[in-house]
Amino acid sequence: MSEILVTGGTGVLGRLIVQQLREQGHEVRVLSRRTGAGTHNGDLTTGEGVAEALDGVRVVVHAATDARKVGRPDLRQTQNLLGAAASVEHIVYPSIVGIDRIPFRYYRNKLACEELIERSGIPHTIARATQFHELIASALHTASRSPIAPLPLDFRFQSVAAVDVAHHVAALAQQGPVGRIADFGGPEVLTLEQMLHIWHATHTRPRGLRLPVPGKIGRGFRAGDNTCPGQCDGVQTWAKYVESKPQIEYTKS
Ligand SMILES: NC(=O)c1ccc[n+]([C@@H]2O[C@H](COP(=O)([O-])OP(=O)(O)OC[C@H]3O[C@@H](n4cnc5c(N)ncnc54)[C@H](OP(=O)(O)O)[C@@H]3O)[C@@H](O)[C@H]2O)c1
Repeated sequence: MSEILVTGGTGVLGRLIVQQLREQGHEVRVLSRRTGAGTHNGDLTTGEGVAEALDGVRVVVHAATDARKVGRPDLRQTQNLLGAAASVEHIVYPSIVGIDRIPFRYYRNKLACEELIERSGIPHTIARATQFHELIASALHTASRSPIAPLPLDFRFQSVAAVDVAHHVAALAQQGPVGRIADFGGPEVLTLEQMLHIWHATHTRPRGLRLPVPGKIGRGFRAGDNTCPGQCDGVQTWAKYVESKPQIEYTKS
């Protein structure tokens, strides 16, 4: 029986995709650099273990990324994956809304990865989503190390629960390739100031101090170029997410 490979299947989004695909009865492989963390040990940057993980696989969800290094290794990782995936029937690539509008380094690298996939000749689906609630919560958690934190309070976000994006991506992995599909966004667009106000229902820190962010990146986030207000697909609101007192992802502390 053909299996689905999820790269990044130990990450915030990937873990939820793996869980949903398994619940739906699929055999799922998970590639990880950490021995025992996935079903297959390997490293997309060096290419080690990638061919073995792909052997007999027809569908790949490529959710691996190195955001800590602002996506610099993502190009090499995607190239190595595509180089070993010639016989794959469908690659699903979770990406980010607005990466072609905001010249943030990580977004430029994601866009370059999308282009590699589009040019590869391998049937694919590119699914852009807005920022995860988990990412904003992690940033606020880190900022709360100080009682008062400089924050870009006028940035707009349409954050979405990673679990809602995982439902979407898991469904796409079970369908045929469709190229780049419509953006997937959270239920509402809020400024960071509004999000912080909601956060304060359950957290005393941080108090926000308006941080002015100059240039095109600041303008893009202030204008909401990272949002897709016509696509309010996610179910869980930021308020419901905060109320659930979730475990903080991304940060080790
Ligand atoms: N975070 C957001 O707000 C957001 C919004 C929209 C779209 N996205 C996109 O969704 C995808 C998943 O993001 P995420 O936030 O869930 O990521 P994440 O939690 O940071 O997870 C990253 C994953 O990549 C794997 N990885 C990194 N380098 C690797 C390498 N050299 N070889 C093999 N695996 C490697 C890690 O696996 P190991 O450490 O186990 O090796 C880990 O599972 C990304 O494409 C991201 O751009 C994210």
